[in-house]
Amino acid sequence: MTRKKRGYVCDVCGYDAPAWFGRCPSCETWDSAKSFSSLEIPEKAPEGLFLPLENIDTFDHERISTGFFELDRALGGGIVAGSSVLFSGEPGVGKSTCVLQIASSIASSGRDVLYITGEESARQIKLRANRLGLKNGHHIHVSPSSEIDYLRTADLSGYTLIVLDSLQTVRLAEIPSLPGSVTQVRECANLVISRSKKEEIPSLLIGHITKEGLIAGPKLIEHLADTVLSFEDTARGLRFIRALKNRFGPADEVAVFEMRSDGLSEVQDLSGITVQEFMPAPGNVITAVVEGSRAFLVEIQSLVSKPLYSSPRRVTSGVSIDRMLLVAGVLTKRAGIPLDTLDIYVNVAGGLSLDDTGIDLAVAVSLVSSFLDKPVPDKACVFGEIGLDGSIRKVSHMSRRTERAEISGFPNTISPEGRVLTRDISELLKIFGGVISERK
Ligand SMILES: Nc1ncnc2c1ncn2[C@@H]1O[C@H](COP(=O)(O)OP(=O)(O)OP(=O)(O)O)[C@@H](O)[C@H]1O
Ligand SMILES: [Mg+2]
Repeated sequence: MTRKKRGYVCDVCGYDAPAWFGRCPSCETWDSAKSFSSLEIPEKAPEGLFLPLENIDTFDHERISTGFFELDRALGGGIVAGSSVLFSGEPGVGKSTCVLQIASSIASSGRDVLYITGEESARQIKLRANRLGLKNGHHIHVSPSSEIDYLRTADLSGYTLIVLDSLQTVRLAEIPSLPGSVTQVRECANLVISRSKKEEIPSLLIGHITKEGLIAGPKLIEHLADTVLSFEDTARGLRFIRALKNRFGPADEVAVFEMRSDGLSEVQDLSGITVQEFMPAPGNVITAVVEGSRAFLVEIQSLVSKPLYSSPRRVTSGVSIDRMLLVAGVLTKRAGIPLDTLDIYVNVAGGLSLDDTGIDLAVAVSLVSSFLDKPVPDKACVFGEIGLDGSIRKVSHMSRRTERAEISGFPNTISPEGRVLTRDISELLKIFGGVISERK
């Protein structure tokens, strides 16, 4: 006797129900119900299914270098054999460029890479490879077919890496849904990941995230992949690759790249760029932020001025407006600096976007500096979190931030543990050696 569960699943959002529905109760899409039947459960389970942990063979996870030092570090030392890496990012951010460069790096050591492209033609891949100046083309095998049923049986044993570009553009012929639908994305990912695990060949799966956060996006398969890398765009051509999830290494590691006409190039010293461009003018402050296991320096700029209109304007770029309003509010109330009637503009140089409470104090010092029209003391790096009571608190990785500041030539740290100790926001004026009446 077998038990078999039958039912219907929404092809757009994955909602399942025992009976057919014309319109999905969850995502309200019409005509999205697809019938499914779950696997049969045999009465007698086969033997030898359960293995004592003791008897399981382990092998050292061999890691394959991506050719990018920074990316290898973010992955925890390279790509693990048999693992699946989901590469997600908005259209045009540079995903295909990055994976082609990885493929080429592997090919350069004489190993073969399978590049499945449902998105671009083989010719487009070749043109990109030419533009990037990549060689070793005979080790990169392109499969320009959007139907990937052949992967079930194809002999993959000679490959060192499988690339799938992208999950949203490939399909299995036997599933009657369009590419990009929930069922197709899930089944295609399942197929590649299971082959990858079985043959111990790592796979790189590209997934799009649309600006609207399309449902059938990579979110669906994040739990299937071993590692999830998110590719983020910042201004000035910088790209951040962040490990959101990592079964074989630390999560939240970041690798920084620059997009050039010849492809992605690693930025190993982001602080160096910041320091080079820093001008010690009123409102400009260097702070240290932490991403993953590394700290780097960033410049925050403020402009405090007489209001243009009857109600003061507050504009930020790279810092959340709420964070800035909180800091300005505390400065007004606890340090007696009348920012409430003034226009405030805060900007993070280089178009970076910061989400680190450690920058509170830097924003405060920057606002006071602009208000007093006095530059911050020489070679100062400022970090700390500000409480609503005006207290200044420690943040994560204090020593890492201090170390980074010293290495980059900003040894005068202003923080709750720095050379210039600040524990309360009312002390901030002392940093500038003055009082409000000295304002120019
Ligand atoms: N000739 C060029 N010079 C400099 N940069 C270029 C050049 N051609 C393309 N790029 C950069 O490459 C980016 C596109 O890269 P790529 O095709 O790898 O992105 P993608 O994330 O795969 O995009 P899609 O979502 O369309 O597949 C462009 O946004 C651009 O910044
Ligand atoms: Mg692409």
